[in-house]
Amino acid sequence: MSEQQNNKTEEKVITKLFPRPNGPLVVTGEKLDLIDENGKVIKSAERFSICRCGHSASQPMCDGSHNRIGFTG
Ligand code: FES
Repeated sequence: MSEQQNNKTEEKVITKLFPRPNGPLVVTGEKLDLIDENGKVIKSAERFSICRCGHSASQPMCDGSHNRIGFTG
């Protein structure tokens, strides 16, 4: 692989989205924006944990409540 091809590969930003067993949906990437229904960026980060159990008091983010309620999924 040439140096130019290597540089292109290194420039790729990989965003990952995966569920944690019995926990939140985790999103990771170089720069992620959480956007509200009006299109306003409400938080930027490299990692978000999104609630899947529906019991977080900080929706849409996970606050650990899935442990308290014994969420499975
Ligand atoms: S998944 Fe963690 S609080 Fe809902």
